[in-house]
Amino acid sequence: MEDTTTPEIFSAPTIASLNDILPAEPLLMMGAGPVPVPDLVANANRNVINHLGATMSRIIGQVKEMSQYVFQTRSPWIMGVAGPGSAAMEMAIANLVTRDTRVLCVCNGYFSHRMAEMCQRLGADVGILQSEEKSQIDVDRFVAAIEKFEPDCITIVQGETSNTTFNRQLPALAREAKKKGCITIVDAVCTLSTMPLQMDDWGIDAVITGGQKGLSSIPGVSLVAFSERAWDRIQNRTWTPSHWCLDALLAENFWHKGSYHYTAPVSGVLALHEALRLICLEGLQARFLRHERCSRALQNGVQAMGLKLYVPEESRLNSVIGIEAPETLSNRTICATMSEKYQVEISGSFGLPIVRIGQMGEQCRAQNLFRTLHALGCTMRDLGITVDIPRGMGELESSLIGAKTQG
Ligand SMILES: Cc1ncc(COP(=O)(O)O)c(C=O)c1O
Repeated sequence: MEDTTTPEIFSAPTIASLNDILPAEPLLMMGAGPVPVPDLVANANRNVINHLGATMSRIIGQVKEMSQYVFQTRSPWIMGVAGPGSAAMEMAIANLVTRDTRVLCVCNGYFSHRMAEMCQRLGADVGILQSEEKSQIDVDRFVAAIEKFEPDCITIVQGETSNTTFNRQLPALAREAKKKGCITIVDAVCTLSTMPLQMDDWGIDAVITGGQKGLSSIPGVSLVAFSERAWDRIQNRTWTPSHWCLDALLAENFWHKGSYHYTAPVSGVLALHEALRLICLEGLQARFLRHERCSRALQNGVQAMGLKLYVPEESRLNSVIGIEAPETLSNRTICATMSEKYQVEISGSFGLPIVRIGQMGEQCRAQNLFRTLHALGCTMRDLGITVDIPRGMGELESSLIGAKTQG
């Protein structure tokens, strides 16, 4: 017999409003991302428009044009993806790597291992080239590994945010990979627009980035750029990727043909548009210089205060700075104290005894550096660590002024 009783609707929960949850004064976001966004980006993110209309079509055209500048590529094959940096990573990998691909994954830490794991999940034949702790990959070792493993594809991270290691030799590595006929996929999630990345000149085939780091946009809309060579491979593949949302040939419908793939994250795309426009207005050279000056000055200030940077200079990333936590303190305690007492948010790390301060996009502003370094010094002092706060602050100031007069 048919059951005609109406199921009882259970009662709605009583939920505190965001006004009661969020701090009255926003925290200064100085961790490894997300980073503060300019007002123009935040305002753009308030709009909802038709994702398939003429206005969106024009905006998408501009996003691609600006992205070509930011990635330094003439390739038109740029696409956004609704999702985190990892979705862009998976999109690059899922469209270029399959069961019979041999992939050499250069691993310096957590995020480069994520690329290796994605390749392994696709059933690819994966070789790992592991760097020494706190070190970048050396070109000779890389070439030897390619000669031995004979990969079709390489994955590598430009800046390994997890432990603040920088693959400074990326241009040489990418060129060597190209000479050997490999497709190279580069994770530039934390580095794009904070330091040079010349996709075409270095011969890179896919570059991925997230919105919430160097670009100073919101999290949730990411970008991937494919070279003509990579696109050729995608168009001529004889297999269908198992990730429907991430299939580049389906994404082409929206990003290049003005038609439907899935409902685009319109507000996030508008935010990204503004973030890219601000980068174009500033110019890449000026932006790189700002990042270099600010990061260096902050590193000098941290050291002058009596704290130790985690990675030696030759392999040290500027976009995110790793600072050793004193033996008596956990990084969790440092971050929580700094957030609660000084309203400055920094990051711990993935099992390492370090705290990390971001130097990406809007984080690289003098007022943010002064407030962050002061908060870090006071936090350490409050937790019983001897630090020389005036010396650190003085060094930060003189480094910033020195860098300005030199530049
Ligand atoms: C170098 C790098 N790659 C990939 C990711 C993953 O990005 P998301 O957390 O947006 O997925 C991150 C995030 O911190 C990163 O720093």
